[in-house]
Amino acid sequence: MSEAFTIAIDGPAAAGKGTISKAVAEHFGMAHLDTGLLYRAVGAKVLKGEDAASAARALVPSDLEDDTLRGQDVAQAASEVAEIGEVRAALLEFQRSFARKAGGAVLDGRDIGTVICPGAEVKLFVTASAEVRARRRYDELVQRGQPADLAVVTADVKARDARDMDRAEAPLKPADDAVVIDTSDQTIAEAVAAAIAAVTAKKG
Ligand code: C5P
Repeated sequence: MSEAFTIAIDGPAAAGKGTISKAVAEHFGMAHLDTGLLYRAVGAKVLKGEDAASAARALVPSDLEDDTLRGQDVAQAASEVAEIGEVRAALLEFQRSFARKAGGAVLDGRDIGTVICPGAEVKLFVTASAEVRARRRYDELVQRGQPADLAVVTADVKARDARDMDRAEAPLKPADDAVVIDTSDQTIAEAVAAAIAAVTAKKG
């Protein structure tokens, strides 16, 4: 397949978007962009004292290859810079051009199906209850050997949800034509299979 084909995968923190997106991209042989990393990279620069909009405009690919971007403090900073219209505007073109890559592309984030790629061939909205998502994020942090407290992680997930859903700029919500996948009671394999089936149904 050499033509462009965009798969937009949105949803709240720790719903399983990242795992599903990687698996879908691999299954269909497409490129994958975790757009949360763009906001995390800007958030990390703000934590070091940089101006958010300037940092977003100056972002380069190597800024995304930084292990500290996965931490909770960076996640909170990311969701704060994500409220700034100038930051979102600076990151828009890179995401749109990635989405039109020959051979197809999977982008995961919060506003891919609604704002970045409203014409995406497939839109999925991957969600799960806040409690299930907090437990997954907690397990992930523990596995990485990072300090974690379930109550704190739950509060962080809920705070980030509220900020992402209530913001004026590109709030988190399913596109009208998105297929919703609730992974609360699914294994990773079941969720991945549901996503692949949804893409296959549209792609033929
Ligand atoms: O997906 P991840 O948890 O890495 O995203 C970090 C933060 O970046 C989110 O809480 C959200 O505020 C922001 N974000 C966004 N739009 C995207 C991807 C992430 O606003 N497309």
